[in-house]
This record gives sequence, C-alpha cells and structure tokens, in this order.
Amino acid sequence: MNIIANHSLQGSNTFALPGRAEYFCRVESAGELHQALAFARQRRLPVSVLGEGSNIVLAGDLKGLVIQMGLRGVQVVAQGRARALVTAAAGEPWRDLVTKLLEQGCYGLENLALIPGLVGAAPIQNIGAYGVELNDFLVSLEAVEISSAEVRQFNREQCGLAYRDSIFKGALRDAYIITSVTLSLHREPRVNISYPALKVALAEYPEDKIRPDLVCETVSRIRRQRLPDPASEPNAGSFFKNPVINAKRARDLRERYPDMVQYPQVDGAVKIPAAWLIENAGWKGRRGPHCAVHADHALVLTQFGDARGRDVLDLAGEIVADIDQRYGIRLEMEPRVLGDCEKPD
Ligand code: FAD
Ligand code: EPU
Repeated sequence: MNIIANHSLQGSNTFALPGRAEYFCRVESAGELHQALAFARQRRLPVSVLGEGSNIVLAGDLKGLVIQMGLRGVQVVAQGRARALVTAAAGEPWRDLVTKLLEQGCYGLENLALIPGLVGAAPIQNIGAYGVELNDFLVSLEAVEISSAEVRQFNREQCGLAYRDSIFKGALRDAYIITSVTLSLHREPRVNISYPALKVALAEYPEDKIRPDLVCETVSRIRRQRLPDPASEPNAGSFFKNPVINAKRARDLRERYPDMVQYPQVDGAVKIPAAWLIENAGWKGRRGPHCAVHADHALVLTQFGDARGRDVLDLAGEIVADIDQRYGIRLEMEPRVLGDCEKPD
C-alpha cells in the first residue's frame, strides 16, 4: 500500500473542486486498512474516508490521512425461498451492486439504480430515491473504529437511519469506517412504483408486465433525463435536503403559494421539494462567477471547472438566506463539507 503525501483530490470528487490531502492512500484489504490506521495513529493524524466523492464539497485542503475505500466483493451469505442475505464490501460501486443483484434474482434495490457512490457510503445518509431507501433492506453493517482499529457490527436499529441521516452523521460522525453492509433482498420479483414520477412513467404498462428489470430501466432513464452527469457538469446531486415542516405551516404556505408542491408524510408532517422553493424564488439557471444553479434541476448546483469550494458555499449561502426570508424555511445542505474554506483573497 502506497501512502502519498500532498495528494490532489480534485479528481476524487464529482464536484471537481480543488483540495489536497496531507496524506492519501487507497486500501484494498482489511490488512491495508489496519496499516493505514496505524500510520495515522503513530503520527496523531486525523483520518477522513472517501468513497467516490459524490456527496462532498471540498472546501480546501484536508489535514491528516485520507483513506479511499477499495475493498471489493459481493457474497450471498444465506438464502431461503423468500429472502437472500447479501454482504457487499464498502468499495463496491453501488450502481454495479444494483445490476449484479438484479441479474442474480435478488430484488428490491431497482429504485436505487444509478445512484453514484460506493457501498460503504450508502448508510451514511441512508441513500434513497423513487420511494425506496437503504433502510428498507439494510440488516447490519461492519465498521472499524478509527481510534482503536476495533471491528464492530451495527444492526439496522443501531445505525439510526432516517431521511438523509444516520448515526454516522451525528453522534458517531468521523468515528467509524464502514467496511461492508449486509442486505436482505426479495427472492420473488416485487416492485414498488408508489413514487409519482415512476408511476407516471410506467402508466402505459399492464400491472403484470411491471417487473424489477423494467423498474430499474425506467428509474435509470428518468435519472439520466433529470440529473446532470458529473462527468460533463461537475455536481454532487441534490445540494439541499427537502425540508419537512409541520402541517399548520404547510397549510399557511399553501394559502400564500397555491401552486406549492407538498408531500404529506405518514406522521402528519409535510415534505416540501427544495427544488420547488428554489425555482419559485427565481434561482433556477442563475449563474454566479464560477458556479450556477442548474438550468434543468433547481436542486443541483454545478461549477464551470474553475470554482473553489468557497464559491459553491457562497452561492449556497445566498440561496439559503433568500429561501429563509421568503418562506421562513431554512434549507440544510445535503453533501458533507470537507476541508477548511480558504481565506478570501
Ligand atoms: P463520498 O462522497 O465519498 O462520502 C460521503 C460521506 O460519507 C463523507 O462524509 C465520507 O467521509 C463518508 N464515507 C464515505 N465512505 C465511507 C465509509 N466507508 N465509512 C465511513 N464513512 C464513509 N444520494 C441519494 O441518496 N439519492 C440519490 O438519488 C442521489 N443521486 C445523486 C445523483 C448525483 C448526480 C450525484 C453526484 C450524487 C447523488 N446522490 C444521491 C448522493 C451520493 O451519490 C450518495 O450520498 C452516495 O452514497 C455517496 O457515495 P460516495 O462513495 O461518493 O461517498
Ligand atoms: N421541482 C421543481 N423544480 C425543479 C425540479 C423539481 O419545482 O427544477 C419540483 C417538482 O415539483 C418535482 C419535485 O420538485 O415534482 C421533486 O423533484 P424530483 O422528483 O426531481 O426529486 P427531488 O425532491 O428534487 C429527491 C432526492 C433525490 C432523488 C429524487 C428521486 C433529496 C434531497 N433528493 O430529489 O436524491 O433522486 O428525489 O427520489 O431528497 C440526492 O440525494 O443527491 C438526490 C439526487
């Protein structure tokens, strides 16, 4: 395993933001991970973990050791008539896992097709799309504690998964490196097409023709149409979480903005698409000096190739202030900010 000093991370985040790691290594086995942690412990270095860098805003250089996950392997560890238990290593690309399992007749992840990133990052924000989230299938995960290098198992309840949230973003932030996840998948084809856009896209098909592979293809098609490809337009997907407000505030806002899209939740709260708030405040397509609100999806910020993290965070800050002033809703960022913002020139 090679530990590189002063390594550029610009090619390791989908926003293509500049920043350097004081030390960087890619680990491809449990042994290499332990060596990397020992290196950091001996030098008292902070440790950060990177997957594909598709949910971070790099706001400058990173002190200490940045470990990129390269652990591979997918194994069916148990199977019965109804369910299969599958363990996938943290360095497997999520989108490949979805297609691989579909081919093997393990169903359920189709709605999560084409989400960028690696398996190890999936529990961090409980990835979700088109009516399904990781929480629906996660059984347990294995993680290594950064401070002690001890291996620990977490069952689903211990992970504290919620909408774009987990214990690894809260009380255990930066404390563990996830090395594998175990999922329980259906052995019989079953589909979930409750998400409105998916239902509409599949409306022409008779119910018995809507099988998991069709759902996977349809979700992939919708995603390609709606979301910019980071390879040509650097971005980190949704930049803000969709805010959840109480029913009374939602009614008040509906009176003021009759067109506002609102999604009632099972607990009575109401989720508002942040994209609607941002578009209706006139931000969609608005360009700053080095970055912009995407012209086709108001929840995606993109940069033109020469932005620094600070430029993106400045634009985000303006949007948050404006949305707060107009609607009394404070948007929360979805991606994690890593690194210190450079001082203004
Ligand atoms: P990174 O960005 O590398 O890391 C994200 C965070 O997780 C960091 O804090 C990092 O330190 C931590 N981390 C990463 N790996 C580990 C590990 N093994 N152990 C401990 N901590 C770790 N997300 C959705 O939920 N739904 C979507 O539909 C969706 N669509 C997207 C579309 C686009 C175009 C893009 C660019 C992003 C999208 N995302 C979506 C966000 C992103 O794909 C997910 O959050 C994904 O899980 C991030 O994986 P990653 O490997 O890139 O993680
Ligand atoms: N909308 C607008 N303007 C836009 C885009 C959307 O007003 O420019 C409104 C429309 O009313 C639309 C609604 O927002 O119906 C929702 O849009 P969309 O279906 O694109 O979903 P989203 O709320 O923007 C969320 C997730 C996505 C996930 C999709 C599909 C969050 C923060 N984002 O986006 O996840 O893929 O639903 O389930 O929850 C991500 O996390 O990075 C991500 C892309």
